[in-house]
Amino acid sequence: MAAMCSIIGYVGEKNLGQVLLDGLSRMEYRGYDSAGISGLKDGKFVLLKRLGRVKNLADAVDSSMNLGNVGIGHTRWATHGKVSVRNAHPQISCNGIFSIVHNGVIENYESIKKYLVKQGYKFSSDTDTEVLVNLIEYHYNKEREPKNKFLTSVQKALLHVVGTYGIAVLSKDNPDEIVVARKSSPLLIGVGDGEMFVASDACAIVTHTKNVVYLNDGELARITRSDIFITTMKNKEVNAIKCELDWQTEDVSLKGYEHFMLKEICEQPQSLENAMRGRFSDDMSTSKFGGLQLSPHELRQIDRILFCACGTAWHACLVAEYFIEKYARIPVEVEYSSEFRYRNMPLEKNTLVFIVSQSGETLDSLAALQEAKRKGYKTLAITNVVGSTIARESEGGIYQHSGPEIGVAASKTFTAQICIAAMLALYFGRLHDMSFDEGAAFVQALLQLPEKVAQVLEKKDEIRLIAEKYAHYEDMLFLGRQSMFPIALEGALKLKEISYIHAEGYPAAEMKHGLIALVSEKCPCLFLATQKDILGKTVSNIREVKARNARVVAIVSEEDATSFGYIDDVIAIPDVHDAIRPIVATIPLQLFAYYIAKIRGCDIDKPRNLAKSVTVE
Ligand code: G6P
Repeated sequence: MAAMCSIIGYVGEKNLGQVLLDGLSRMEYRGYDSAGISGLKDGKFVLLKRLGRVKNLADAVDSSMNLGNVGIGHTRWATHGKVSVRNAHPQISCNGIFSIVHNGVIENYESIKKYLVKQGYKFSSDTDTEVLVNLIEYHYNKEREPKNKFLTSVQKALLHVVGTYGIAVLSKDNPDEIVVARKSSPLLIGVGDGEMFVASDACAIVTHTKNVVYLNDGELARITRSDIFITTMKNKEVNAIKCELDWQTEDVSLKGYEHFMLKEICEQPQSLENAMRGRFSDDMSTSKFGGLQLSPHELRQIDRILFCACGTAWHACLVAEYFIEKYARIPVEVEYSSEFRYRNMPLEKNTLVFIVSQSGETLDSLAALQEAKRKGYKTLAITNVVGSTIARESEGGIYQHSGPEIGVAASKTFTAQICIAAMLALYFGRLHDMSFDEGAAFVQALLQLPEKVAQVLEKKDEIRLIAEKYAHYEDMLFLGRQSMFPIALEGALKLKEISYIHAEGYPAAEMKHGLIALVSEKCPCLFLATQKDILGKTVSNIREVKARNARVVAIVSEEDATSFGYIDDVIAIPDVHDAIRPIVATIPLQLFAYYIAKIRGCDIDKPRNLAKSVTVE
């Protein structure tokens, strides 16, 4: 089985090995533990698989090696069947007719395997993928009609499958074709000049072509160098609709930065500007969104908003809750997607459901979306990936326009989600009771955001020096009140994810009810003490931990910085409007985690055990 993996495929004149390896290395950020490619040369599959990084595989491929003109490649993140070369993909069918790469999980593979074993099929791996490729071969051998035999056999096999899949298949009898299919696992086709690409993520092919065709769930395609034929599982022919990727080649390169995460942190003035571009009304008193698919009248009827998300996106939703309740006075609920899907939550009739997902592919968030739709609620998505499954399955939504995020730990996409949340609060606020003047002030604050973020980024070296003092600790607490509480959660998550230091985020006052038992000279605390109205309260909490010998670093507003002389380390950020403060306060936490991870020698862009998009439950 393969779950959070990547697929690449190519048919054309270019050096096949290079195209496949380059594609796989561009998707490395997604997380995996083995990699493999297969080409078709003189009627035989050339198969290469290695454990560990794509580099190990690349070392095994001589650049002069001719792998043929059609091939597929894969990185596997093991779920069932341990990490081993024989379980890595591609998997070849029993009689050597087909080679397959597969993302997803075939849930009924055991019963199919039993049947195939009875039919004489032999298995040499523990994967469900090998079961699928043998099932394809089984149907192929039964198929009488020679026309479309390859595609038809794949289709017949998939009709027996329960589960999820994105697959790319080669057939030794059809040396100019790749057959692909998808169900709940992303797959797109890149259209070149006399060449075609297949990928599970656009970043794998953006250096070759920007013309793509997204495959929908339940569709199969036969791809040759010059042609794409798409059909459904029910044999309905589908027109291939070409879209243009709005990504640049440099979006997927390091551009001189040591890590993608640092590059993406530093890109935030730009990504925030992109999130806001074209989204303010002409009179600059409110925001506007092109893709909500609901009229202002319908939106005014909304009396509750539910946000569902996972991970970092869930933290962005918590900020959205503060914003929308404060500025628009609409009750908001935030739920983990994985909880919502099984919780059977009672909701008011006029509830609007937002699914927030950077990748647009997180399985739990997709399932939450489907559950909300099934119950008849209006669903909208906030996502960064155009054409992603969540974007396509929701009724409308808002794209983040952050550009590709390669670092596994989200940074620029988190702040873009908060920025969109602030714009939504403004929009809903202005539909209700927010005055023109308040709206105009809100817009002006948002417009200042890129510049304010740039100011904090200039403090990089100062933050690096502070990080040096904290890199040796093994525990750390992050504390904040109100909208700074989710930022504390996110600061702790960033530190955990990339430096492997145990960290917890907490509402500052709640600390007294348990967490304070951990506070000691071995457990420093980071406070977000930026809000004037509750500053005194946060200061009391700081004193409580100082009294217990904890080292304290505080993020404070520039204007208050001098009053924090008693604190070990202070990072001052510009004093800004409440609606943009959570974003400005996030920047030092991202840099703090980044530099600590760097000092500790961690693999920052590809942290252990984590994947960029999680397509398993
Ligand atoms: C994974 C990633 C996180 C991300 C979460 C949700 O756990 O490592 O960085 O926040 O998935 O991803 P999504 O694409 O749905 O925002």
